[in-house]
Amino acid sequence: MNTDQIVRTFTDWFRERGHEPVNGGTLLPSPSDPVLFTTSGMHPLTPYLEGRPHPQGRRLISLQRCLRTTDLDEVGDRTHLTVFEMLGSWSLGDYGHSQSLRWGYELLRGGFGIPPGRMYVTVFGGDDEVGPDIESLDTWRELGLPVEPTRDENWWSHDPVGLCGPDSEIFVWTGDPGTPPQGTPTSDPRWVEVWNHVSMRYRRESDGSLQPLQRPGIDTGMGLERLVTVLQGHNSVYDSDLFEPWTRLLPPLWNLDETSTRLVCDHLRSGIVVIGDGVRPSNAGRGYVLRRLIRRVLTTLWRDDPSRTLSDLPDELLRHTLDHFRQPLGTGPVREVLLDEERRFDRLLERGRRVLGRPEFNGPLSDEDYHYLHDTHGLPRELVTTLRTP
Ligand code: SER
Repeated sequence: MNTDQIVRTFTDWFRERGHEPVNGGTLLPSPSDPVLFTTSGMHPLTPYLEGRPHPQGRRLISLQRCLRTTDLDEVGDRTHLTVFEMLGSWSLGDYGHSQSLRWGYELLRGGFGIPPGRMYVTVFGGDDEVGPDIESLDTWRELGLPVEPTRDENWWSHDPVGLCGPDSEIFVWTGDPGTPPQGTPTSDPRWVEVWNHVSMRYRRESDGSLQPLQRPGIDTGMGLERLVTVLQGHNSVYDSDLFEPWTRLLPPLWNLDETSTRLVCDHLRSGIVVIGDGVRPSNAGRGYVLRRLIRRVLTTLWRDDPSRTLSDLPDELLRHTLDHFRQPLGTGPVREVLLDEERRFDRLLERGRRVLGRPEFNGPLSDEDYHYLHDTHGLPRELVTTLRTP
């Protein structure tokens, strides 16, 4: 199955079971939300999970793009992405956890064709405050899947205060298909978590107490890229069809090592999406995140060839990304933003070289020097290091 078919299978499955797709999409949270970018599929639905009635009803699904900068240093490995998408399903005081798990299992098995022998699940085993999640345990046993109970790993909360509850995670075996699965989700990393079903039934108050919600809900989330990678039998998200034009067109253009190629793919693709959602580079907030993404790309490209330029970026990559994320912006304006930022960065580097050429910066640099270069000349430490490398 390609990515579009996977998304359609998920959407059709839940629509047939009475779920309405919500207008998932933009990375920008509502203006009253203090966070810069949407970080998970459930994020825009938080007020509704807390009890507000949703205009589209009590059974919802979405495909939500998300952006996380917490993992920026991990980008370049097989799995971490800056912008990714989450498939999610919600019951706002409608059906319960057991129904959600059953549907989850049926979709993975019947819709996506994952054999039950390649699935393992974890459930909340109880702690000092809340007893074990017997309902989930019984459901999984009836369905015949192996279950591993845990404590902390299966208690979902996003913040110290707010919504929380026990969750149950479905793992898929990604080891060699020729050998039977081994170990358990917590003991063997070849068990990869694909779907998290949270029974959102508590609220942690600021005094630390746990209050049951008047209207408990179900919140599930499944990372699209990870699901696609697992279903297509790949080891790395970059080998999936999601990155097909990137991995085909970038290596002949810029001959980089594997980690750098992945970083350039991830950051450019993420930058395009952020621009598509209306953000422009700046020195603060969302614009600064975008600026950092583009400049990290340029630093990587220019490390061994300063003549590389984003003007060479094939239009197909811009088009593919905007289409995939259902963004109406044309490729022309996106390219303009990228090239404008490239020119600004180039000028900054030129200034940086001039400043670093001064005799006082000849020797080793102190933390104070780095602060001065950053605060007065806008030169980040990473950049200074690069500029001083012969
Ligand atoms: N809240 C759950 C998660 O973030 C499911 O959406 O994984």
